Amino acid sequence: MTSYRRWTLRTENTSYTVRLSADGPWAELDAWGPLGVEHGPSALDWSRRTHFITPADAAPAEYLPYGLRPFTGAELVAARPGEERGVWWDFDGAEEGEGTLRLAFTDAVLGLRTVLCYETVPDTDVILRWTELTGMEELRLERFDSAAVNIPVTGAARLTYLAGQWSQEFQRTQLDLSRGTFSMSSLQGVPGHAYAPWLAVQDSDAEAAYGVALEWPGNWHITAEAEPGGAVRVRAGRVPHEGAVRLVPGDTLVTPRLACAFSPDGLDGLSRVWHRYERHLAGARLHRPRKVLYNSWEATGFDVDAAGQLELAKAAADIGVELFVVDDGWFTGRADDTGGLGDWYPDPAAFPQGFDRFVEDVRALDLDFGLWIEPEAVSPKSRLYAEHPDWVYRIGDRPARLVRNQLLLDLGRTDVQDFVIGTLDRLLTAYDISYLKWDMNRPPTERGRPGTERADRLDLDAGHVTGYLRVLDHLRAAHPAVTVEGCAGGGGRIDHATLARTDVVWPSDNTAPLDRLSIQYGFLHAHAPHVMSSWVTDAPGVFDPRPRSLAFRFVNAMCGVLGIGADLRAWTGEQQAEAARWIARYKEVRQIIHEGEARLLGTPEDSTCGVQYDAPDAGTTVVAALSTGRLDGAPLVPGRPDRLRLRGLDPDARYRDNAAGTTYSGVHLLHYGVPFSWSAHHDAELVVLTRQ
Ligand code: GLA
Repeated sequence: MTSYRRWTLRTENTSYTVRLSADGPWAELDAWGPLGVEHGPSALDWSRRTHFITPADAAPAEYLPYGLRPFTGAELVAARPGEERGVWWDFDGAEEGEGTLRLAFTDAVLGLRTVLCYETVPDTDVILRWTELTGMEELRLERFDSAAVNIPVTGAARLTYLAGQWSQEFQRTQLDLSRGTFSMSSLQGVPGHAYAPWLAVQDSDAEAAYGVALEWPGNWHITAEAEPGGAVRVRAGRVPHEGAVRLVPGDTLVTPRLACAFSPDGLDGLSRVWHRYERHLAGARLHRPRKVLYNSWEATGFDVDAAGQLELAKAAADIGVELFVVDDGWFTGRADDTGGLGDWYPDPAAFPQGFDRFVEDVRALDLDFGLWIEPEAVSPKSRLYAEHPDWVYRIGDRPARLVRNQLLLDLGRTDVQDFVIGTLDRLLTAYDISYLKWDMNRPPTERGRPGTERADRLDLDAGHVTGYLRVLDHLRAAHPAVTVEGCAGGGGRIDHATLARTDVVWPSDNTAPLDRLSIQYGFLHAHAPHVMSSWVTDAPGVFDPRPRSLAFRFVNAMCGVLGIGADLRAWTGEQQAEAARWIARYKEVRQIIHEGEARLLGTPEDSTCGVQYDAPDAGTTVVAALSTGRLDGAPLVPGRPDRLRLRGLDPDARYRDNAAGTTYSGVHLLHYGVPFSWSAHHDAELVVLTRQ
């Protein structure tokens, strides 16, 4: 039996064992799964009896440079400028700490030191992995992934990912990979609408689920490759805009972190690992109640003025809303989407008595006040652009392309970062603002920095990310009381770096009830309820005319952080009273929704689906149940209610639904489920069960 040098990292329920290969100078995975899984022959060992498949081909390597391994993909492609690519390194020592591991490899010829870094995250089943690259000489790095993870599969690997486009983000999508490569990426300077930087992998006939998520709000890729030895190898990392980055002698390049998660309980269990991780990212801010907001965008569009906004604010306060957010259209030159961006001063014509007076009037309704801003954007008509045309991405003297009639500021420049910080400080100091919605509606197209001599030495993607994170970090430090909502034309920039610095994110501009259900269903696989901003808007929606009741829209939005975006001025007294009742019920259970354990019940393809939330002390269970209106399921059986089976309850306990006056045994709820009698007028319910 071969003996290896091995190291084991342990999380609450999982272990991850890395060993030094006996066959080649690399680290490889020995075992990853439930605690103790490392005791026994590695499931990733191959028989070594196959001609032509060498150990190098089949090794479950943790990180491979191009040149060391014959066939499948490498994580690191490095060369001296103008010379051949390739790294041949030697193991140079391990450092183990409390929940940490660092494995170093050096290439004496290139003068490159590569350190594979591991860190467990307390109270979660997440291990963070990243790589640090230090050069003694100038090097060109064409690829510098964060990490690779190996998952043994018996046949095909079942890949689950979240794909879509604007207004259809987070559609849960699956494929079986038995040969070849599956790759997702964004070159849009933001994670993008097409794919979330998140992937789940399962052996296609097994339950256990492995997941990765890349903490990088810029260009990225995640690539899964079927390996000859019967494993799938997932590589993930940045994709530099310039095609390569320059490693300056003596400098260390630190890659983004790749969060690696495991659950024995399938995708549902895996989602809870991610939820817990995101609660960890929120830290103490998790326990700050997320206020019920009203956002005026869908009601007034660009037609913003004090009188109209106050009318909405009054109606919102009357039904129990706690926070009023003025979206796009409040600043000078913003009559439509062709102007204004960059000149962040309230429009005096819209707020004739002054913006401070307007904010005071909103506050006098006992509402907090919030504001939308798109700090990286600039309109060609703006004063900012006239003063600083060089602040915008552009290739040389060529005209810059307009997207949504706007340009993008080069946030990698410190003067641009300082302008954005100065703008936010000014607004947050001048007015009583406690909520900021940070939008970004225009990904970079051409990305040049005019006046740069060696453009190939720039790293514009990392520059923009660094600027963005610097401003968000400043907001946290200088304005800790301000709640920050992250948005990018809907869900275009949602990743763990953003989530660590914001309180909520906006998953999609699509708020139509059934469309939203499917977006939220995908979103909750990767992200926690406490970050999922969701509004009740008017039906039929802008995008999806399928009618749903007001109750459905409330229960759907309550699955995360409830907001209202409907035109309340047009609502009847009856609708307003119903809304007030829903908001009051939500306030009673929101702590459980945001801080408890969530389970996805069924899918939007089923006739009934929902989310179950269990309070941390397990005394209360909240079930948000939604009828999709499909008539091919159980509701067709006349008189027999549809049912949602709950999970994770104590079979021996009794649970009481006080509102309905029903008591269930735990085993009944687990075996049969909660009954729902749907009709055209009754398509959603919120059930609160108290353990007796
Ligand atoms: C983006 C956002 C919307 C809204 C508009 C305003 O599309 O996603 O919520 O703020 O911009 O222009």
